[in-house]
Order: sequence, then C-alpha cells, then structure tokens
Amino acid sequence: MSRIDASSPVLQVRDLSIEFPTQQRHVTVKAVNGVSFDVYAGETFGVIGESGSGKTTLGRALVSLIPPTRGELLQGGVQPSSLSKKALREHRRDFQILFQDPNAALNPRMRIVDSVMEPLEVAGHRDQQANRAAALQAMARVGLPTEFAERYPHQLSGGQKQRVIIARALTLKPRLIVCDEVVAALDVSIRGEVLNLFADLQREFGLTYVFITHDLSVVSHISDRIAVMYLGSLMELGPSQALSEAPLHPYTQALLSAEPIPIPRSMRDSQRIHLQGEVPSPMNPPSGCPFRTRCPKAIEACAQSRPVLTEHVPGHWVACHLAGH
Ligand SMILES: Nc1ncnc2c1ncn2[C@@H]1O[C@H](COP(=O)(O)OP(=O)(O)OP(=O)(O)O)[C@@H](O)[C@H]1O
Ligand SMILES: [Mg+2]
Repeated sequence: MSRIDASSPVLQVRDLSIEFPTQQRHVTVKAVNGVSFDVYAGETFGVIGESGSGKTTLGRALVSLIPPTRGELLQGGVQPSSLSKKALREHRRDFQILFQDPNAALNPRMRIVDSVMEPLEVAGHRDQQANRAAALQAMARVGLPTEFAERYPHQLSGGQKQRVIIARALTLKPRLIVCDEVVAALDVSIRGEVLNLFADLQREFGLTYVFITHDLSVVSHISDRIAVMYLGSLMELGPSQALSEAPLHPYTQALLSAEPIPIPRSMRDSQRIHLQGEVPSPMNPPSGCPFRTRCPKAIEACAQSRPVLTEHVPGHWVACHLAGH
C-alpha cells in the first residue's frame, strides 16, 4: 500500500452534480447527484454500480469532458475552470480517460503508430521523429512489437487494440487515467493479462486510476478502494477488502449476493438477496434514500431524509439510516 499517498489527492470531488436537459421543460436527468470523495495519488479507485447509475457521466466529469452542474472538482488541487485556455490544454494531458470500445477510439484508416502519436501532435509536439520514437516506446511497453506499427486496426485483436489505446494515453505521461469498462469487451481469457498490464504500468509510472465497471469481480481484484453508485449517488465507499467482505449498505449487499464468483456455492441460495422492482428514473428519483424503493430493509425515515455518507468505521463510509443497526 506504500505506493499510495493519501495526503496528496489527485482528485477532490465536492458535492458534484451533473444534470442533462430533457425534452420536457424544467425536467432534467440527474445523472450524478451530489457526490463527494477524494482519489489519492497512486491508488486504484474502483467505481461500481448498475447500468445507468452515472458511472460514465462521473468519469467524464473527472477528466473535464463534462462541466459540473453544481459542486466542485479539483484536479491536482486546481479547479480546471479557473485556468486559461492555454494552461487548461497543458493541464488536461494529466487526466486521461479510456473507454470500453477500442474500435470507437481508433481511426480504421490510420496506421497504429500514427494513432499512438496523434495525442502528442494534438498537444503541439511538432517533432515527428521524436513523436514516433515516443509512440514506439509506449507500444513496446504495453507489449506490442514494432511490426505492429505499420498495421491497421482491423489487423489487430480486441486485446491488442486495447493495448494500442493504453499506449496512446501513456505517450502523454498522465497522472490519472479513468478506465471505463476497459476490459468488458475483451474475451474473458485475456482480461487478466490486460488487468495485469494496468497494474504494472501503475507501479512503473506512479499512475492513479479510477476504474469503472459493473463487474465486481474485476474491480475487487484491482482496486484499493471501491465506491458504490446508485442512481447518481454514492452509497458506500471503503477499502476494497472490507467492502467486499463486510458490505454495510443493503445495496452493496445485494450487488455482492448477485455476484456468482466470490461467494461459495453452499452459501449462495440462502444469502442471495433478490432486488425487487426496476431502477427508478433519474428524471424523478425517490425522495430520501434513492435505494429505498427497492431496499428490503427500508423504514419510514428512508423516505423522509436522504442519508448522508458517514464514516462508519475508519475509512469505510456508508449512506444508510440503518447502518450499524
Ligand atoms: N448526454 C446525455 N444526455 C442525457 N442523458 C444522459 C446523457 N448521458 C447519460 N445520460 C443519462 O444519465 C444516466 C447515467 O448514465 P451513465 O452513462 O453515466 O451510466 P453508467 O453507470 O455509465 O451506465 P452503464 O453501466 O450502462 O455504462 C442515465 O440515465 C443516462 O441515460
Ligand atoms: Mg457507462
């Protein structure tokens, strides 16, 4: 754990909300709804939650691709909106995001090496030879031999394309990479390899990751801490092991019991919690606790006030009126 420096947060997120307009007047999609947390230098911060819980929207906001509707985001202690255009361009290199589908991120008509060099060119580096050398070095580092340089995306496998995308981000020497479902599209047999590559690169370059996935088995292996999102809100945040072994929020408990892998078969049927009902609409979230309409433990208080994320045991936070009861 010594690679992590908790005294120097790379991201400080304070009561961050992101809303999208809809066709209806005065109705918005509350994709992210008042979340607060820090991401420490050198850690892997996992974010889990069901589809539509706001993970991608949060991830895009963390690298300034979407402006906050309310609240504050500091990147390396700096508020991006306070920077001049030129300073912002420089600053943004430090905060990169990778998505699930490498095909969408690669131009099919560009050779691999040109794709890997592209961010350097966009960042204003004019020396083609130096850019090419940096690209080949990054490719070598992610396990892509030199002969791949002149190939086109269609000549590569899914795993190889995802390595190209990682190499592209590395050329900019970022401090933080948001990884949004980066292994979800890969064959199960090569997911482990790619996850190991992320871990190796972290050690080598002191990278910080925000690792977004709906697959708890992926995130619990790679993360130092995990945040659980539901309908745009943070329900629980804690050390990876504590959160997986002793979840405090009924929603996390339900997510874990729906996971086929980490729970012994003998325990599964009796422990499994079936979530009732649909996820409510983010245009009209429930009053109080957003999870209360599906929570097996909900009481009256849950409809009346929204539980605040509270430190229940050191380092382990939960937003639930019933935690500890
Ligand atoms: N550009 C947009 N305009 C309007 N609504 C949006 C936009 N982007 C996302 N949303 C809505 O915001 C909510 C959160 O979406 P988001 O993509 O962040 O969820 P997610 O947790 O990443 O889901 P998934 O696991 O399916 O990727 C959803 O209700 C989605 O429909
Ligand atoms: Mg998403």
